[in-house]
Amino acid sequence: MSNTPLAVAVTSTQILGVSKLIEVIGLSHQYRLSNRETVHALEGIDLTIKPGEFVGILGPNGSGKSTLARHFNALLLPTQGKVLVEGLDTSDIKNLWEIRQRVGMVFSNPDNQLIAPIVEEDVAFGPENLGVPPAEIRSRVDQSLERVSMLAYRQRSTSRLSGGQKQRVAIAGALAMLPRCLVLDEPTSMLDHAGRREVLVFLHQLNRELGITMVLITHHLEEIMDADRLIVMEGGRTAMEGTPADLFGSLAEFRHLELDRPPILEMASRLREIGMPVPTGIRTAGEMVDFLAGYADTRVGGRPQ
Ligand SMILES: Nc1ncnc2c1ncn2[C@@H]1O[C@H](COP(=O)(O)OP(=O)(O)OP(=O)(O)O)[C@@H](O)[C@H]1O
Ligand SMILES: [Mg+2]
Repeated sequence: MSNTPLAVAVTSTQILGVSKLIEVIGLSHQYRLSNRETVHALEGIDLTIKPGEFVGILGPNGSGKSTLARHFNALLLPTQGKVLVEGLDTSDIKNLWEIRQRVGMVFSNPDNQLIAPIVEEDVAFGPENLGVPPAEIRSRVDQSLERVSMLAYRQRSTSRLSGGQKQRVAIAGALAMLPRCLVLDEPTSMLDHAGRREVLVFLHQLNRELGITMVLITHHLEEIMDADRLIVMEGGRTAMEGTPADLFGSLAEFRHLELDRPPILEMASRLREIGMPVPTGIRTAGEMVDFLAGYADTRVGGRPQ
């Protein structure tokens, strides 16, 4: 790994040997609507995000995904319980800037996240606010834009970019803060298929090559097929947790989770409904073809010669 600011920030976490990047202990959150009315958005959540992980968070509308995500960088504070970022308690105001630097947030609407009119000014905004020296800002901006293949657009007006490009600039802005972790709350929900793919490719690259921990909230199962771990939320609690391989079979059956399922999982689910014993581990078209070929063999007693 090269000795660049982006790389140094991440390796320092690894050198420190921190085994828990984010630790959530007995977290409950209530929104207060009025003196009498509260909404219990999260109830007794315990979870850990490890350095370098790619974690997907799924769940139906209103299950508490965004509320949970906003606790990861102290945009919301626990009503009960604790959230620690590399051991720093988010409820302690002294830790706020340190935590916001370590955990970057990316939201679904890039228009609401881009602040400056020109791409490079937008990416520089965060480090400028931290008082980073100008020469280092320039280097961070260049590297961050290069990471998301937007360096050629540095002088462009942000308003003239496509949705996918805007979201990549928003990710570059978060990267320029040298975060350990990015928390992305449905970052692709406003993008077309090509834009979604673009953004996903960069998230995986940043995770693999720089070791930046990724927490991705999505309704699209396809986006987290390659995640290390999935957390499924339901009714303000964590309902399931495991690797994609562990969970995909059962997720395909859980229609109430309102997931946008990849066609292969949808097909597997429909075939099971009509009585075909499709194994739960099938995730790709190739695996489906192999299964169907084998299944046809068992039905007709072997392939014709
Ligand atoms: N600012 C708020 N004030 C009051 N209640 C809120 C607020 N934000 C969320 N809620 C409520 O908290 C619960 C959890 O909402 P949250 O937005 O965290 O869910 P979500 O899983 O992100 O949903 P979605 O998939 O629609 O984004 C819901 O009942 C929601 O109505
Ligand atoms: Mg949400």
